[in-house]
Amino acid sequence: NIHVQVVRDQTAGGLAGFKVFQDALEHGAQVLGLATGSTPVTIYDELTASELDFSHLTSINLDEYVGLPATHPQSYHYFMQEHLFNAKPFAHSFVPDGMNPNAEDETQLYEALIKANPIDLQLLGLGQNGHIGFNEPGTAPDSITHKVALTASTIAANARFFENQDEVPRYAYSMGIGTILKAKQILIVAYGAAKADAVAAMLQGPVTPDVPASYLQTHPNVHVILDQAAASKLN
Ligand code: F6R
Repeated sequence: NIHVQVVRDQTAGGLAGFKVFQDALEHGAQVLGLATGSTPVTIYDELTASELDFSHLTSINLDEYVGLPATHPQSYHYFMQEHLFNAKPFAHSFVPDGMNPNAEDETQLYEALIKANPIDLQLLGLGQNGHIGFNEPGTAPDSITHKVALTASTIAANARFFENQDEVPRYAYSMGIGTILKAKQILIVAYGAAKADAVAAMLQGPVTPDVPASYLQTHPNVHVILDQAAASKLN
């Protein structure tokens, strides 16, 4: 069951996304699954400016780079502090610990944490290649939290944010597709023409590992927010 909402632009998308969060909280949501990247920023702006109180809630983020401490400006910990947590603290906020060198420990702990705190609403952005979290094409639909080797193109794209090439993370810890699909409700947001092919494949293409987001077609409660450019290849 997928509900698609097309909005004018990213500002309108922020308000539309905020309303989905507000509605979830009114219906008793306790655990919010959060994402980083450029897409959620206007939603976080609306949440920050709102009267909503998260001080009794738990947040659980999708992913984090391996090897970056929470104090590193490119870490997802840091991003979340800047865009949401400093203004709106949660009772408990979890992001994978990128400084834990033991991938097996970290990913098992994180998966157990999600099992103990089932996610009521999971926010997602969409990659141009159809990825969700760090689950690139080819990831198994029943995958759980795992260590991911970043693709050469992702490493190259990230290099501009780092002082030297050696600092660019090679790996990330990410919820799996199976982890994401366990959330009771999913909100996925995409803006811009560069996402139009991925949006069409996610919503109207076959359910296939070639497009990780296509597995959202199997989920009972998905809300999609798009701008017109991202929706432009839908039939
Ligand atoms: C972020 C994440 C990624 C992004 C996706 C879209 O935590 O896991 O899957 O959601 O790469 O990124 P933006 O929003 O920057 O286009």
